Amino acid sequence: MSTSTAVPTALIVHAHPEPDSFNAAQMATAAQALRDAGYHVDVLDLYADGWTPVLGREEFAPVDGPFKPQAEQMRALQDGTLDAVVEEHLERLLAADLLVLSFPLWWFSLPAILKGWIDRVFMMGAVFGGDLGFFGDAALAGKRAMLLFTTGGSGAAFEPGGAFGALDDFLFHIHRGMLEFVGYQVLDPVVTYGPARLTDEERATALEAVGKAVTLTAAAAAPVR
Ligand SMILES: Cc1cc2nc3c(=O)[nH]c(=O)nc-3n(C[C@H](O)[C@H](O)[C@H](O)COP(=O)(O)O)c2cc1C
Repeated sequence: MSTSTAVPTALIVHAHPEPDSFNAAQMATAAQALRDAGYHVDVLDLYADGWTPVLGREEFAPVDGPFKPQAEQMRALQDGTLDAVVEEHLERLLAADLLVLSFPLWWFSLPAILKGWIDRVFMMGAVFGGDLGFFGDAALAGKRAMLLFTTGGSGAAFEPGGAFGALDDFLFHIHRGMLEFVGYQVLDPVVTYGPARLTDEERATALEAVGKAVTLTAAAAAPVR
């Protein structure tokens, strides 16, 4: 058994366009809870950083023949010609023991800027595929990931049989299709429902609840070393 005392790292990838939003306050609360739990916290703020979400041929060396995005990702990795920003984000992703995706729920899914981060950084040959496999054989196997998000809908709307349907059902494409696919063990999501309808006092209580939930999650996510 390893006795390493290295500090675990949490990477929070945050995608909300308004720094004064409840969602941003939720992210800051989660970051502090993780620091208090002993994590080094690295934050990527995609809107603030002007992240480009579009996976297109212009980020790669010129291609003879048809452009195949995943083949080009593997070629860029092999040739050392990765886009510098993508390479830096990939390094930060691979260095993290815990990945937290922080976002407002948009159309039952991730905002496009965050989906585009997955498209460009969850790269074939670096996090799955190539010499790696999928799921348990992918690069992030043994690490944890979780979703941290806000909704417009009320909690009742996301209950089984509610107007929006059970949360677990429509998170499947993120949990299974993105996070487990690249090897992560997925932790329970932390969600604040309908912050826009909360009073200031209720928002403060909701943020406290986020802090507690993330603290519990951090304990469950302690890396095996
Ligand atoms: C483009 C867009 C799509 C949205 N889709 C959903 C949705 O599918 N379900 C939902 O409950 N809320 C949806 N919302 C509402 C946001 O989730 C909600 O306003 C946000 O999470 C509240 O947090 P904030 O006040 O910090 O922005 C959507 C909002 C936008 C702008």
